[in-house]
Amino acid sequence: MTPTVPPAPLALSRPRHLRRTAALGGLVRQDRLHADDLIWPLFVRDGEGVLEEVPSMPGVVRRSVDRVVDAVGEAQALGVRTICLFPYTDASLKTEDCAEAWNPDNLSNRATRAVKAAFPQVSVMTDVALDPYNVNGHDGFVRDGVILNDESVEALVRMALSQAEAGADIIGPSDMMDGRIGAIRRALEGAGHRDVTIMSYAAKYASAFYGPFRDAVGASGALTGDKKTYQMDPLNGDEALRMIARDLDEGADMVMVKPGLPYLDVCRRAKDTFAVPTFAYQVSGEYAMIRAAAAQGWIDGEKAMMESLMAFRRAGCDGVLTYFAPEAAGLIAKGWE
Ligand code: PBG
Repeated sequence: MTPTVPPAPLALSRPRHLRRTAALGGLVRQDRLHADDLIWPLFVRDGEGVLEEVPSMPGVVRRSVDRVVDAVGEAQALGVRTICLFPYTDASLKTEDCAEAWNPDNLSNRATRAVKAAFPQVSVMTDVALDPYNVNGHDGFVRDGVILNDESVEALVRMALSQAEAGADIIGPSDMMDGRIGAIRRALEGAGHRDVTIMSYAAKYASAFYGPFRDAVGASGALTGDKKTYQMDPLNGDEALRMIARDLDEGADMVMVKPGLPYLDVCRRAKDTFAVPTFAYQVSGEYAMIRAAAAQGWIDGEKAMMESLMAFRRAGCDGVLTYFAPEAAGLIAKGWE
């Protein structure tokens, strides 16, 4: 005799009702990823017509200013309207006083002017931190192995002013010195740059995931020690909320959590607590991991990329800085959901 299987109880609630067809799924889909949610970080280097691979970030290149302009044009055609510039500074320009950081004609400022001249409707974001210009690779001045907060803030203010002067739309202080947002905001107001937006790297953790970026900007070799006296402890969640509250208080328009995927809980708490424009930075190491696994054939690179970006939306982010921006925008333009 075959044993009888008792009938399954009648299911009154069947969530599968809403997954049956693509149309039903689309109807109830809660979040969407749009090209407008993406900020594309680009690395700028010297020269003309130069494209130089970054080995630890497959698919990412350093570009000379003319090539940056071309790339921004292509990205814009796919719907990316905000870019973020990071300079790869020649070792000969790295000094202890970091004076290149506020040189009106440094790479970052030249690229800002060139992009704004070619595409005035594209928003240019710039990075405020001393590391690309510092002989020791730190975001602030160092004396006897100690990072000097207030002296660094003065330099960061000069740097931010030179970026605003060059036409930056969004100033992005990534340095994590105390008091820099207020100091930069006051200086911008004082210099008549009243319309400049500040996106504060408010909750920036001391992370191993920045490794490939430091290669890309040429800071890896220079860096002595670590950044733990100014970047946050990965185990601190509440502190992120205090940092964000402070930066908003000091005049930040938008806040960022960085890195991205390992800190989605922080994104969600930030959005729920403050309800302000909230961004995540999907950093170089996150990018490299997806690319590397895809190159091995271990994951589907496109799907993993899109899923990772959608996760930021679900976690409450308004947008995300990602090296995948043009590629993701291309897929979105083709109807990816
Ligand atoms: C430095 C800066 C870093 C990144 C952006 N700005 C690295 C660091 O703090 O050492 C990391 C971005 C990335 O990893 O993609 N001011």
